[in-house]
Amino acid sequence: MTTPTIEVHLDDADLAQALRDDVRTGLTATPPWLPPRWFYDARGSQLFEEITRLPEYYPTRAERQILEERAPHIAEITAAKTLIELGSGSSDKARLLLDVFAPRGTFGTFAALDVSESALRDAVDDLAQEYPRLELHGIVGDFTRHLPMLPRGGTRLIAFLGGTIGNLLPAERAIFLSGLREVLEPGDWLLLGTDLVKDPAVLIPAYDDAAGVTAEFNHNVLNVLNRELRATFDVAEFDHRVVWDESHEWIEMHLRARQAMRVSLPAVELEIGLERGEYIRTEVSAKFRREGVESELAAAGFELQQWWTDPAKLFAVSLSKAGHQH
Ligand code: AVJ
Repeated sequence: MTTPTIEVHLDDADLAQALRDDVRTGLTATPPWLPPRWFYDARGSQLFEEITRLPEYYPTRAERQILEERAPHIAEITAAKTLIELGSGSSDKARLLLDVFAPRGTFGTFAALDVSESALRDAVDDLAQEYPRLELHGIVGDFTRHLPMLPRGGTRLIAFLGGTIGNLLPAERAIFLSGLREVLEPGDWLLLGTDLVKDPAVLIPAYDDAAGVTAEFNHNVLNVLNRELRATFDVAEFDHRVVWDESHEWIEMHLRARQAMRVSLPAVELEIGLERGEYIRTEVSAKFRREGVESELAAAGFELQQWWTDPAKLFAVSLSKAGHQH
């Protein structure tokens, strides 16, 4: 068995700085907002795992179904030597691919990039037991900043799954996709998971489940700010609210103040006031159509080659090739 390598490009001080910058920028805007990445402390990651098992939250199951069915085809088409998963978390979805890729002679390396060093260490240690012949790399980093640190050489397949790209706004997606294309060679591959536009009667409950797990996940970001920035949010004074923005075709999660309040955030020397009914936008989760995905990919220099959905057309996984001109 080869020992996995772990490269750390983000430490606790970098994360603390990034949180302070994000909070200063977001909470002084009108309306105030917070980037969704701060949901995922240990508790938030656990709540997200719970969300993926909720009856209303279809994306995880739909994507898994697609990957299970198409993994052999993906291995065949790409003939990848290296699989790189961005925002890998526990690398559960990568396993579906690795089970099929690992026995192939051409394949040899799996690399995972994630912001959480602990999650990454646990994941690559487990994978080392399960796939003793693979070369394994954990890269502690941020997929918006550390793409130049991805391993090189041989045909690479980048996997960005779960619909996480939907957390980026359109302009951020354009920057991310061209940045990714920039670090790839022509002929490398991108496997992208995107949630699809559908009836709001299906979308809304996926983000506002009956058991209240997503509400707790949403509120948890305030616990993170209270702990990390000594903020004084009274978490119980906020309502979880989910809005389908028809014109942008995205879901927004809000935390809406039940009463007028003042909140101080001493670690960023900030004090904010919220009126009753005012809200903080905590997440944008964009939903896609094939034409939109195809044109965003093309604009960044990727050629869409395959588009796979589950039978109910809830979710799509697309496979694109890095083109020659970009
Ligand atoms: C992990 C970003 C894909 O947007 O559906 C789940 C996060 N937020 N429920 C999503 C999430 C609320 C999820 N992603």
